[in-house]
Amino acid sequence: MKLKNKIVIAVDGFSSCGKSTFAKLLAKKFGYIFIDTGAMYRAVSLFAWRNGLTTGGKIEEQELISKLQHIKIDFRYSGDKVCTFLNNENVENEIRGVEVSNLVSEVSKIKEVRKYLVSLQQAMGKNKGIVMDGRDIGTVVFPDAEVKLYMTATSNVRAKRRYDELIEKGFDVSFEEIKKNIEERDNNDMSRKESPLMKADDAIELDNSNMTVDEQVLWFNRLLLEKGLAIK
Ligand code: DC
Repeated sequence: MKLKNKIVIAVDGFSSCGKSTFAKLLAKKFGYIFIDTGAMYRAVSLFAWRNGLTTGGKIEEQELISKLQHIKIDFRYSGDKVCTFLNNENVENEIRGVEVSNLVSEVSKIKEVRKYLVSLQQAMGKNKGIVMDGRDIGTVVFPDAEVKLYMTATSNVRAKRRYDELIEKGFDVSFEEIKKNIEERDNNDMSRKESPLMKADDAIELDNSNMTVDEQVLWFNRLLLEKGLAIK
């Protein structure tokens, strides 16, 4: 399978429905850059938390906005793993913890934060050849993306995947806590005023509740052929 031209692949959808796993795999398959935009919102949340810009789960918005220009985020390889760097520090593990997960919905509601991160994301994808995952990639960041996926899975399946991932990383969490956090984030993501999670009109839905990753890749290959974007 070979892509005819360099394209942008936008992967949007709910928390923990395997967007990153799938997007990473596609990036590897096509030799594309992979960008996890959720990690960028998480890195800003970690910055706010570490710098005392939060009180009782609330963000000191103006303070954070005034410091945005001091927040440098990029992605670098550590072995064969893509890691998120915040001001030159590898924060890949820390941004996945419960403290950041509980803050990130609040941070991602802030218009100026979104504006700042969207401009970084557009710069990262300006030469195409990119797979970007998030919530607003097909609607706001790259409305002209050649392929837009909207991924879903039931909240039980998603909570189980997140739980297994965190336990494997050594976090002490309960399944109930994870499920509650996921459902709260679904609500926040869909109901927020700024760029809520929604399916772009031209996005294609992929419900992977009962699909293996290999099945998803086969499905995607067929999609590329149907769209005339690839040759066998
Ligand atoms: O994909 P994730 O669960 O790591 O994302 C973390 C949070 O960031 C999620 O609650 C929604 C937010 N987010 C967003 O608002 N826009 C994006 N493009 C990506 C993530």
